[in-house]
Amino acid sequence: MDELLKAENLAVGYPARAGFLEGLSGKERGVVRALDGIDLSIGVGEIVALVGESGCGKTTTGKALLRLVDERYVRGTVRFGGADVYGMARPALRGFRGSAQMIYQDPYQSLNPKDSVLEIVVEPLRVHGLAAGRDMRDRAILALEESGLKPGAGYVDRYPHELSGGQRQRVAIASALILEPRFIVADEPVSMLDLSVRAGIVRLLASLRDRRGLAFAFITHDLSLAWLMADRVAIMYLGKIVEEGPSDDVISRPAHPYSLALVDVMPRIEPRAGRKRRLLPGEPPNPSLIPAGCRFRPRCRHATGLCAEKEPVLEPFEGAAAGHRAACHYRGSIPV
Ligand SMILES: Nc1ncnc2c1ncn2[C@@H]1O[C@H](COP(=O)(O)OP(=O)(O)OP(=O)(O)O)[C@@H](O)[C@H]1O
Ligand SMILES: [Mg+2]
Repeated sequence: MDELLKAENLAVGYPARAGFLEGLSGKERGVVRALDGIDLSIGVGEIVALVGESGCGKTTTGKALLRLVDERYVRGTVRFGGADVYGMARPALRGFRGSAQMIYQDPYQSLNPKDSVLEIVVEPLRVHGLAAGRDMRDRAILALEESGLKPGAGYVDRYPHELSGGQRQRVAIASALILEPRFIVADEPVSMLDLSVRAGIVRLLASLRDRRGLAFAFITHDLSLAWLMADRVAIMYLGKIVEEGPSDDVISRPAHPYSLALVDVMPRIEPRAGRKRRLLPGEPPNPSLIPAGCRFRPRCRHATGLCAEKEPVLEPFEGAAAGHRAACHYRGSIPV
């Protein structure tokens, strides 16, 4: 598969907001290491899911891949079709903005209520100075129909408040499609929607990959959905990818204790006999206080002295399928 996007050692450190006392004492502010150095590659037409609990850095990753984070806070590199995204000057950046789009979680907030569907869908065309008049309307209708709103002519003159959540998300998708992108970051695109319309949106995104060869970074905290949707899964913990590989391998043979805990809470049709759910002990982690050694150590039942001393690297391991890597000193030897 041809590579479309490649991030190397990508990191985002936000300045922590100073507390009241710190502010008075003039103490140095800390850094929120929202993303702490990840390598990620996404092929043409590939769907890669980013999975992990709230605050682990999924949205930050998506935004950093698209150069939507304040550049002062970003380290590392992102290449798109071989070009250095953070080194791009205006004309190239404009092209990139058209080729790489984002779909947000909440279709109630992401659409301006004062704009008609037509205005929303063609907004990227206007920003890029690409079309005018009649042509805009026709292109909007096509994009709406491709997003499952048929006939598109029946939607262009409506306003967001006249649409259901699922329809709004389809309008957001139409707007993301209008510039014919090659890559979309879909950030929890169905988690705010009614269960009854989720499957339709998921099918739509999958069909866009099939029809248009679109690649996706599909952000979700739902491992079942990642399994359904993605070719590869990257499991994130506290700003790092701790396990990555083909979806089937990561989910049927997870190697990192954190992935094991996530897989354990996946709903199953037939629970495996004699299997106990391993719930995670300890506090939810804090990205301004990342532990030395293995960052998962405080919540890990298998941690040893080695884990306190040395940070494990995301690497293949014995018995792993091709492309399956985990960042645990004991990967492959923890019972699944
Ligand atoms: N602009 C910001 N300034 C400071 N800290 C931030 C900023 N944006 C995110 N963070 C922090 O960075 C960490 C990662 O946030 P991020 O939004 O990427 O997580 P997430 O995995 O998308 O979580 P969720 O599942 O809740 O959406 C969190 O601790 C968050 O509080
Ligand atoms: Mg998020």
